[in-house]
Amino acid sequence: MDRSRRFLRMLTLALAPLAFFRTAHAQGVGEAIGDRIVRFWPDDAARSSALPSIALQKPMPALGPVPDSFVVRPEFASAQGGRIIKLSVPRGTALYGMGEAPGRLRRDGQSSVMWNTDAYGYRTGSPSLYQSHPWVLAVRPDGSSFGVLADTPNRVTVDLFKGIEIRAQGPAFPLIVIERDSPAEVVSALASLTGYMPLPPRWALGFQQCRYSYAPASEVLRIAREFRDRGLPCDVLWMDIDYMDRHKPFTFDPVGFADPKGLADTLHTRGFRSVWILDPGIKEEPGDAIYDHGNRGDHWVKMPDGEPFRGKVWPGMCVFPDFTRASTRQWWADRVGDVIERAGADGLWNDMNEPAVVDVRSKTMSESARHDADAELGGPGYHTRYHNVYGMQMARASREGMLAKRPERRPFVLSRANYVGGQRYATSWSGDNGSTAEHLSLVVPMAVNLGLSGQPFSGPDIGGYAGPLTGEEFAVWMGVGALMPFARAHTEKGNIRKEPWSFGPKVEATCRRALETRYRLLPYLYTVFEEASRTGLPVARPAFFADPRSGWLRNIEYEFLLGGDLLVDLQFGELIGAARRLSDDRRAWREATVVAGEPDAALPGLSVRAGAIVPLGPVVAYSDERPLDDVELLVSLDAGGRAEGTLYEDAGDGYAYQQGEYSRLKFVAETRGGVVHVSIASREGRFAVPAARRYRVTLLGAAKGAKVQGP
Ligand code: NOJ
Repeated sequence: MDRSRRFLRMLTLALAPLAFFRTAHAQGVGEAIGDRIVRFWPDDAARSSALPSIALQKPMPALGPVPDSFVVRPEFASAQGGRIIKLSVPRGTALYGMGEAPGRLRRDGQSSVMWNTDAYGYRTGSPSLYQSHPWVLAVRPDGSSFGVLADTPNRVTVDLFKGIEIRAQGPAFPLIVIERDSPAEVVSALASLTGYMPLPPRWALGFQQCRYSYAPASEVLRIAREFRDRGLPCDVLWMDIDYMDRHKPFTFDPVGFADPKGLADTLHTRGFRSVWILDPGIKEEPGDAIYDHGNRGDHWVKMPDGEPFRGKVWPGMCVFPDFTRASTRQWWADRVGDVIERAGADGLWNDMNEPAVVDVRSKTMSESARHDADAELGGPGYHTRYHNVYGMQMARASREGMLAKRPERRPFVLSRANYVGGQRYATSWSGDNGSTAEHLSLVVPMAVNLGLSGQPFSGPDIGGYAGPLTGEEFAVWMGVGALMPFARAHTEKGNIRKEPWSFGPKVEATCRRALETRYRLLPYLYTVFEEASRTGLPVARPAFFADPRSGWLRNIEYEFLLGGDLLVDLQFGELIGAARRLSDDRRAWREATVVAGEPDAALPGLSVRAGAIVPLGPVVAYSDERPLDDVELLVSLDAGGRAEGTLYEDAGDGYAYQQGEYSRLKFVAETRGGVVHVSIASREGRFAVPAARRYRVTLLGAAKGAKVQGP
């Protein structure tokens, strides 16, 4: 071989991995599975040999061919060990989604790897966090929108540098494309496929306080006392792993938590709910009741040689339940029923369920571990397929356990790991964040992108999990965190105290105002959550939902919407990506003061959409302290002197609402003869609202001396 041919051959070898990208692209085959919803396959063979979807709530049979008018057409290519899908997008299209992604709100120009990872110390741009949502939402310049779901649980890389490029490992999988006139409609349609967040118990919308760990039980009670003595609203206290006996799930520290039920009962008398942590790793300890029981039932994930997969977590060397099987989920659910009864727990916290393994480079279970999965999920297979859904299936088992034990109550499960569709089972939090300004800047984009990816109920560790911060910084965190769908302060072992009073009276006063704001907003928030549970619309929405055609709104992340009617202006830092604020348009958004007294510059500003009515409740110590007998209506009239709003109510827990035991009041404000008439225009449902309810109307931005009548 002459030198040049040898050189060429070497070059070919060196470029061999790139063959992956050189493969010719094919159009694939498509089938409609809903109105303007199409599932594309690389080819017919892939379609006929496909494994079931884990993201979709139920199988979606093909309804017919792809309509000719359907403009989105992916291109498929395959290569050894993987698949590539490419989609071009019109110029000026903005991209969002990908769930729990740490970075700017707009995802174009960014890349994510969907591989659930214990990501302590993550940063802006870290490719993989705890959850996987292989989903991209595209908003075209004209405001029309489409979304694409890579319907595989395998490791997926999503590059949004030039259009959309999806690279995935494992067998062929379909791409589901949803086409709609607006991004909100696409997100709603996604929920119609992957499932709606079940309506949470109302207390879960209250403020929650956590630490790794409040222990022993007397310390939990001390924290409870502080909240009540200081008049700081709070609904939930959290038990981290130190409540357990040597960190073993389903046990209690015999000294520190000798009477967990007594603790929970005392908390209940003071209006607190309790949530208790449960990790998946079961300590390998022959003679231990849980381990022996799970062993007898053959419930562990195994290696190909038939031995259980073993990995180190908090309790020491552990084995891991195979949540991909209904029989193991049932085994877990039974243990859950038992532990929530013994702990008097109101909710469960599923942590370390990527699953995290501490002493290995991969930080997780071996990919050659085998799951004996049910056919529903795709049958027996390697961890490579089931890694991203391990946490989701654990949360599913925990939820089933809570529901079986207390069918009359709504379960509450918080899960660190999850997968697209996981909103069916659990709430999300953004894991081990830090207390830095960088992490604070990630809070809103992350919650908003999760909302645009099907998960409406999420929030950060308020104050940051890792690292200290100053009181002034904590106050700002609290202001933002108290307006997130899920509002919980938390911090790690050995860190400074991060309770609202830990930084002195000035910071405590700011925190009180932030928390009072949340509690005043609870009637509105609950109305928004109920809407989310029916429609799949996010709770925290991007500013561009106010006008999807507007170009400049698409970059805004220092403002976001809570529901459709309330605009939150974070008031901190640089304006990112756009030079103006939506809330500056005082004809479209009217500034609202929700808590009396001097405004606090550390806290976000709030505005109500012109044409909307936002219902507020009184400040309470916890969400069901008293019936909603005082309602203030913030009325923000449009140019025609009109406004409308809704208030949804029910028992706050249980399922009677599904049998008509709810109330949906529609308020209307109309201006006639210089007088603003506010009335209840319609009532729906049988839930009895307090007979002696008082309404107070506050007109926002109204001319001095404006007269109000009713309701
Ligand atoms: C890791 C979780 O992310 C954190 O929130 C928790 O406090 C620790 N595990 C201890 O359970």
